[in-house]
Amino acid sequence: MKLLLLGSGGREHALAWKIAQSPKIEQLFIAPGNAGTALTGENVSISATDFSAIKTFVLAKGIDMVVVGPEDPLVKGVYDFFKNDASLANIPVIGPSKTGARLEGSKDFAKAFMQRHNIPTAGYKSITAENLEEGYKFIDSLQPPYVLKADGLAAGKGVLIIDTKEVAKKELRDMLGGMFGDASKTVVIEEFLDGIECSVFVLTDGQDYKILPIAKDYKRIGEGNTGLNTGGMGAVSPVSFVDGMFLRKVDERVIRPTVEGLKAEGIDYKGFIFFGLIEVKGEPMVIEYNCRMGDPETEAVMLRVESDLVELLEGVAEGNLCTRTLKEDPRAAVTVMLVSGGYPEAYEKGKVITGIEKVNPESIVFHAGTKMENGQLLTNGGRVIAVSSYGKNKEEALARSFAGAKTIQFDKKYFRSDIGFDL
Ligand code: AMP
Ligand code: GLY
Repeated sequence: MKLLLLGSGGREHALAWKIAQSPKIEQLFIAPGNAGTALTGENVSISATDFSAIKTFVLAKGIDMVVVGPEDPLVKGVYDFFKNDASLANIPVIGPSKTGARLEGSKDFAKAFMQRHNIPTAGYKSITAENLEEGYKFIDSLQPPYVLKADGLAAGKGVLIIDTKEVAKKELRDMLGGMFGDASKTVVIEEFLDGIECSVFVLTDGQDYKILPIAKDYKRIGEGNTGLNTGGMGAVSPVSFVDGMFLRKVDERVIRPTVEGLKAEGIDYKGFIFFGLIEVKGEPMVIEYNCRMGDPETEAVMLRVESDLVELLEGVAEGNLCTRTLKEDPRAAVTVMLVSGGYPEAYEKGKVITGIEKVNPESIVFHAGTKMENGQLLTNGGRVIAVSSYGKNKEEALARSFAGAKTIQFDKKYFRSDIGFDL
């Protein structure tokens, strides 16, 4: 099979690493990829949202399957683009339709969907400039802190958690006034939920689904979960508090009603669903949906998928996922993200990266923001490298990843040395 993977981050390197291990793969292309994906397949210099260039490439190379890493192409409708083009319609795209991707692309859509299907989530109200007064009233009715979310995609920055009513109302006005451009023309105000979070990933063919290894990511820049939110500073899998009983609740109350709900509403969804969950007094609640795998969770989760991922993706494409098996590796897996100093605020690019070849072979070094220039490996983003490791438990895996994180060098490197601390 010739497979095209869209995206360029650590998630895509981890997916490419796993896909390339499949005996079914004849050729793997990554568009646009990074310096790491170039080691597992062939990078193609096409943006993941340039659909017409993707079409030309897919037809020229005889691509058999397209796997979509990031949310952007999905929210922009890459699935529908293929489905509605006679020359592409028979090439499966692993990812939801544009409507399905609204689970991530519109918080308002996601909340209303959860409400329709009785899926546990925080109480909320959607506010626009037209019903601002209702927003103030809703804030008055809540206990602090106050959660304000831009409805649309805001590069992971669209959620504000605010301690006082006055500031919450001011931020609400500012968001509606364009703080996140069009993404915050509608704002979802939510009840604050207090608990511990985890990430649950499901692969679905629209009928059945497989639950991938459970993970937890660490979003804040600072140790002890302090400071600004980032794309994610590390992840661990499995997650100690997610036991059989909790997972059963997640399956019965969250996953199944979501997949059934999509089906009942006639929404085409053949791909990954990411449930951002929070455990509140032993009960799962949904914080958010994403229409893709998590980053950096994928850099841990892929290590724990023992089965052939391509075999599972074929099950999605053919609508017979129920006949395939997903076997988990019993070992723990973790990832530790090396970032550029300053991230998630301003940071520099183009720093020389050294020492990867000295990392212990029990770790796997995934590239996130890197590029190769004149034979030199350079930083090319805020999140630069994810050092993933196996271990008999998370402590052993973490010790390996932290050792790798110290071995790799670039100017102003930073990483959190407390990933997994709260489990
Ligand atoms: P989201 O983009 O919706 O995942 O929100 C980003 C982060 O904000 C989440 O990972 C949570 O840590 C936090 N958050 C979002 N919604 C809530 C909520 N209702 N209660 C508490 N924390 C929340
Ligand atoms: N790690 C969280 C995300 O991918 O959105």
